[in-house]
Amino acid sequence: MTRNTIGIFDSGVGGLTVADALHRLLPTLPIRYIADSAYFPYGERSDAEVEARASVLTERLVAEGCVLVVVACNTASSAALERLRAQSLVPIVGMEPPLKPAAERTRSGHVAVLATSATTRGERLARLQDAHAGSTNVVSLPMSGLADLVEGGEVDGERVRALLHRALEAMPADVDEVALGCTHYGFLRPALEAMLGPGVEVLDASEPVARQVLRQLEAHGIPLPSAAGAELAVRCSTTGVLDAFAAVIARLRAAGATLPPIEFVPLEQPLEQTSGLGTPV
Ligand code: DGL
Repeated sequence: MTRNTIGIFDSGVGGLTVADALHRLLPTLPIRYIADSAYFPYGERSDAEVEARASVLTERLVAEGCVLVVVACNTASSAALERLRAQSLVPIVGMEPPLKPAAERTRSGHVAVLATSATTRGERLARLQDAHAGSTNVVSLPMSGLADLVEGGEVDGERVRALLHRALEAMPADVDEVALGCTHYGFLRPALEAMLGPGVEVLDASEPVARQVLRQLEAHGIPLPSAAGAELAVRCSTTGVLDAFAAVIARLRAAGATLPPIEFVPLEQPLEQTSGLGTPV
């Protein structure tokens, strides 16, 4: 493993939106990605379950030599970020819905957060709202089943539109800022924007988080590779079936999704099963 490799994990393909943003900022930066597909979806699991998986994945990335780990999953960040930071030997960067910029930018005073059920009921989102929403009216919409479609490579089409339509019916008409609180939803941005129309801005945290990664590397004195070197592919593994994962990525690319170059590599050792979670899929 190269000296300054960044580790990124998510329950599935969603965190690749963050990997892509990071790759765009610095294409020579080595990135290692693990999708915990065998335990997808995190959004329907308990905090304790998600926390257990987040620890296993973080430990693996650190054991492989990653110098910083990105929890590219709002659900896992909501459940486990503080604990991971306390336990880890490397800096940990997490995700949160971009509620702060949404509250700063709204003209109507109404913003919506789209996230998994686990994230919408989590304390972290409530704290974020207390800290940054001020007098802005915030409505949190749990988008049950939406990440599942993306995880199957579906980012447009009838099923996606039907699910979005049903969920967005609960959104007050005067919302003019929508904060994406699940990394999988980054792939749905074109479908969402088409549905919401030009009067509503959709905010995604992947690029700000990628910038935060570079700032953290600098703050910890970790040298960045020269931007002049060769572009690197993201080294990608899954706890599920690698061919099936690669097929989903191909489906996302064919649908026009923005993704970094990816090299698929099998996990060197299987990732420990987390007790109490039943059999992985
Ligand atoms: N990508 C994850 C997030 O950002 C959620 C997907 C899942 O439910 O596993 O919250």
